[in-house]
Amino acid sequence: MEKKIMIAGAGSAMGQALLKKLLDGGHEVYTTSRGDMEEKGSRHHHASLNILESDFPEGFLPESLDGMVYMPGTINLKPFKALKPEVFLEDFQINVMGAVKAIQKIQKKLKTGSSVVMFSTVAVQQGMPYHASIAASKGAVEGLVRTLAAELAPTVRVNAIAPSLTDTPLSERMINTEDKLKAMKERHPLKEIGRPDDMASMIYFLLSEDARWITGQIMHVDGGMSTIKK
Ligand SMILES: NC(=O)c1ccc[n+]([C@@H]2O[C@H](COP(=O)([O-])OP(=O)(O)OC[C@H]3O[C@@H](n4cnc5c(N)ncnc54)[C@H](OP(=O)(O)O)[C@@H]3O)[C@@H](O)[C@H]2O)c1
Repeated sequence: MEKKIMIAGAGSAMGQALLKKLLDGGHEVYTTSRGDMEEKGSRHHHASLNILESDFPEGFLPESLDGMVYMPGTINLKPFKALKPEVFLEDFQINVMGAVKAIQKIQKKLKTGSSVVMFSTVAVQQGMPYHASIAASKGAVEGLVRTLAAELAPTVRVNAIAPSLTDTPLSERMINTEDKLKAMKERHPLKEIGRPDDMASMIYFLLSEDARWITGQIMHVDGGMSTIKK
């Protein structure tokens, strides 16, 4: 069945992979990102805006939505003593408050049976050095997911995915040499890092009727990183 899905922060590598999957699946997609984006056919509608700061243009969104995905995120990795409080606040703004604002803006449009997907990170489940700020923000996202899942059931399902290192511009500095890439693959039980398509596939599933009995969950798409020790 054709769905109407909104993606906030669709300029991300994972957002682009999800957009393609949804359009290939015959769905209608409404995207926002800070930069310009060429609309990919008649079922793709784009508004260039920062979801944290601006409202949607008048008449941009349809009357009802079957789903919403909040993609924006940050990665400020530093020793705790070097992480200024402002960084914690900025990360909280983008990762948590952006999701809060985006969901509040579209909440009335969410149909019965619709699905909201947010992003956490493997670094919430597994403590990792230098991740204090991002883990604190994404931990808050996980709390938001469970609370909203409870509050909006049975009408709306709310879940998050928690990736480990995935090949996108956000993680570029961690894999920009052969040696770094090899070391990062080696850390994962499945000996690979993630691809944007791995995340897009899980989000596509969570938006679909196949996930009709799943809510309040954090899906760990992480090459085994959060639960397996080799
Ligand atoms: N890549 C990884 O290894 C990894 C691991 C764990 C979790 N994640 C999460 O995965 C999600 C997608 O990220 P990605 O890896 O696909 O990264 P990406 O390709 O670099 O995309 C970055 C995303 O963050 C948004 N963004 C960045 N700075 C922003 C700001 N100042 N204000 C508003 N929006 C801002 C971008 O929005 P625009 O579309 O407007 O540019 C875009 O949606 C994020 O939530 C991230 O935390 C990624």
